[in-house]
Amino acid sequence: MSNIFLVGTHWGDEGKGKIVDVLSECADACIRFQGGHNAGHTLVINGVTTILHLIPSGILRDNCKSIIGNGVVVSLDALNQEIMSLKNAGIKIDKKLFISKNCHIILPSHVALDVAREQALADRSIGTTGRGIGPTYEDKVSRRGIRLEDFESNVFESKSSELMSYHNFILENYYQQNKIDVEKTVTDMRTEYEKIKHLVCDTTALINDLSSKSNCIFEGAQGTMLDVDHGTYPYVTSSNTTLAGLLSGSGFNVNKLDYSLGILKAYTTRVGHGPFPSELDNEIGKNIAKWGGEKGATTGRDRRCGWLDSKILKKSIQLNRINGLALTKLDVLDNLDKIKICIDYGDINYQTLTTPNVKYIEMDGWEKPTVGINSFNDLPSNAQRYIEKIEELCETRIAMISTGPDRRQVICRDDLFAK
Ligand code: GDP
Ligand code: IMO
Ligand code: MG
Repeated sequence: MSNIFLVGTHWGDEGKGKIVDVLSECADACIRFQGGHNAGHTLVINGVTTILHLIPSGILRDNCKSIIGNGVVVSLDALNQEIMSLKNAGIKIDKKLFISKNCHIILPSHVALDVAREQALADRSIGTTGRGIGPTYEDKVSRRGIRLEDFESNVFESKSSELMSYHNFILENYYQQNKIDVEKTVTDMRTEYEKIKHLVCDTTALINDLSSKSNCIFEGAQGTMLDVDHGTYPYVTSSNTTLAGLLSGSGFNVNKLDYSLGILKAYTTRVGHGPFPSELDNEIGKNIAKWGGEKGATTGRDRRCGWLDSKILKKSIQLNRINGLALTKLDVLDNLDKIKICIDYGDINYQTLTTPNVKYIEMDGWEKPTVGINSFNDLPSNAQRYIEKIEELCETRIAMISTGPDRRQVICRDDLFAK
């Protein structure tokens, strides 16, 4: 038995869903512990694409329990929609999906506040997903948030009415926006809750039991640079996306952690606003975006593209106690004659969002297809060199290499569950 923590090393969308899907063949449980439906994790199995937002990426496997830990913020509406579309695709949910009673609930007024704040910030906006994530975590920390367990103790109606009245006051008087219909919302949310109440339980006990005797994957959402403490603040999300978030967001005992796997894209992307030192604001960046299909899996926004940032990678390795990396989307670079890796820069200026003295190393591309290759030795020699250069720069093993979106398009150099 082993417990693997899987984390995005940069600004999200590194291909976490794909790697979880590959690893979940040997997993007994897959656990989300932070974020919410701001995430979009894509799985491609025999050409069929599934995008998961809130439900862990092990759900497509019959052998794997899926757990939404206490640190996740839950939109009941989004959860029910996701459950419905999985059921329609023939995926079993009951007795496979478990949701923490301590999860905080995203109210429609949280969404309205998120959108209103972004509008008011105008050109200083964060570029959030508009899912109400930030305001929900704010209310959690301020101890007025609503938890799933509040439905059972019958305080949901009174607590949420009070909270939404407070939100309405801010929406109307500070942001000059329309109010939320409190009475209707409370009724609608009770109806939504009734559909999932049989899935709600004490997941901390369940996680500690499973992680003592079976293989568990802890699936991070977003990425290290979106961590509210360690990321490019204020252009971050509102949760701890790093190792600390795993512990607080699941109740998992850190002594049982066997392996931290960092998910690293062969280049870097970012969706939303904020600094991006190695960004390619040119034809190469546009081509990478086109070849990589770099559109947000949640909002459909264009993702900004740049060269792999090894300075951030080193920071991620340190913050997350990373043992090994999964390098994804290698095939996207197949057509380039030269490939750069960003190795250093000065301090980011948060007023201008610029970065001084960005330094790169340049390597020869391989200009041959790598799509679907399953063995390291079959990769073109320049692709092998690129991988070895990354390993050398960050002094960390690349344990897996993804060569296409499909489950089968992967090179597994190490057996992670055997570690
Ligand atoms: P996540 O949020 O980290 O799970 O990543 P997303 O699902 O948001 O974005 C990753 C995108 O890249 C998805 O469209 C995946 O299907 C796709 N993808 C993952 N791995 C590979 C790969 O090795 N090659 C290619 N071409 N696409 C990949
Ligand atoms: P996955 O799990 C990429 C970004 C948003 C915005 C910032 C704050 O698919 O990698 P929020 O709605 O969280 O308050 O937005 O964080 N963001 C993501 N970017 N991938 C994600 O998730 C993201 N989730 C949030 O674009 O810049
Ligand atoms: Mg994503």
